[in-house]
Amino acid sequence: MKYLPELFAANARWAEEMTAADPQFFAELAALQTPAYLWIGCSDSRVPANQITGLQPGEVFVHRNVANVVVHTDLNCLSVMQFAIDVLKVQHIIVCGHYGCGGVKAALEEPALGLIDNWLRHIQDVRDRHTELLAALPDNDTRWRALCELNVIEQVRNVARTTLVGDAWKRGQSLMLHGWIYGLADGRLQDLQVSIQSSAELQKAFNLAIDNVRSRYVSQ
Ligand code: CO
Repeated sequence: MKYLPELFAANARWAEEMTAADPQFFAELAALQTPAYLWIGCSDSRVPANQITGLQPGEVFVHRNVANVVVHTDLNCLSVMQFAIDVLKVQHIIVCGHYGCGGVKAALEEPALGLIDNWLRHIQDVRDRHTELLAALPDNDTRWRALCELNVIEQVRNVARTTLVGDAWKRGQSLMLHGWIYGLADGRLQDLQVSIQSSAELQKAFNLAIDNVRSRYVSQ
């Protein structure tokens, strides 16, 4: 192998270990995947969905993009969601952001980065919907943390508002949405308490989760 031999060597070791632990592992996975979760996370190399949740291949369906944004017209994300909901019948969709997110920081600070500025507009829209909350925060680091959380909560709402999720709920399919945030500094996941399993729950859960962000960061 001419290029990146260390990765192929690591892959061979890994495949051998997996087969040693369970000789049927790859044969069974090749025949069928039945993940219970769809993960919508950030592309950041420090937030690998499987590793931080202890999930094996076959256990989580994953979509990642810069700053875990769910755009209503993003065919890539929507196609992943449709396959996950309609074909795989996942039980849970987890939107997971992370503190220290470079995409969120760029949305706050507005450096000119080129094409990606257009993508980051979506996070600036989130920022602009919460200007009052963000303006009440003591410094830029706190605003960054808070916007990482607000972005997750807003993206959960975007997931809930897709026709895909709405239709699944209408036909009585069991599907729960969640918003989580991951700490790069301690490796811990935190539930932002915006979990819902019907359209009727959306507004209340959304408002509560935003209130929670406010009470976490705005000094009384
Ligand atoms: Co990120």
